[in-house]
Amino acid sequence: MDLSNRPIGVFDSGVGGISTLAAMVKILPGEQFLYLGDTLHAPYGTKTTEEVQMYVRRVVSELEKKQIKALVIACNTATGAAAAMLRAEKDYPVIGIEPALKPAEEHWRGGRILVMATPLTLKQEKFLSLMDRFGAHAVPQPCPGLMELVENEDEKGAEAYLENLFGSWELEQVDAVVLGCTHYVFLKPMMRRMLPERILITDGNLGTARQLQRVLESHGLLRKAGEGSVTLQTTGNSEMLLPVMSRLYAKGLEIS
Ligand code: DGL
Repeated sequence: MDLSNRPIGVFDSGVGGISTLAAMVKILPGEQFLYLGDTLHAPYGTKTTEEVQMYVRRVVSELEKKQIKALVIACNTATGAAAAMLRAEKDYPVIGIEPALKPAEEHWRGGRILVMATPLTLKQEKFLSLMDRFGAHAVPQPCPGLMELVENEDEKGAEAYLENLFGSWELEQVDAVVLGCTHYVFLKPMMRRMLPERILITDGNLGTARQLQRVLESHGLLRKAGEGSVTLQTTGNSEMLLPVMSRLYAKGLEIS
């Protein structure tokens, strides 16, 4: 049976993973992507691992109703909490995302690498092992409350949050900033304006898109023909959220 024409399921706690989705569509324009934002249970990053695992199971079973050929966890928090669990249970490929610490470490100039992520991501075993490998100069920076500002498209609130955060760092000693949450990628243009140019800003979206491509290829699951498509869905109030998700998708195509 040729499974390659089936869709790819993608999820996040809310709208953040739309930035990852945009990167994947650029690399794999012929694929059919089904995105589900678990807005009803967002944020994940201030919950416990067990709670996130429970929500992830529900979201994934929704996506499975559409006969997905692969699953992308477009959320650093959910990857840390549930990727190993899903990989052990599922017979289709599961691709996760993690903070892009390696390129930041390669850019190291003797200063600090700030890793912005949710409190739960920074506590997880997966992140600690990433720190062991590439985190010699990395400083974890939990950002509770920041994803909500992206969900609400609150630009002014985000700017004030970042001003306050960057004001607490000694910027002359910072070499790189790692965006360890898919929501924060939407704030990249704003951060670029606020931070000195020599500070590198990295995120895991492109790496995840490439990893998806490699995995589909190696499983013989790359779609061979036909128009690609993107379907956006939410567990929350669709009437209110779908316009926001569409706007962010367009923005994601510009920045990812
Ligand atoms: N977008 C998610 C991530 O990449 C987390 C946001 C949240 O639900 O707290 O970590």
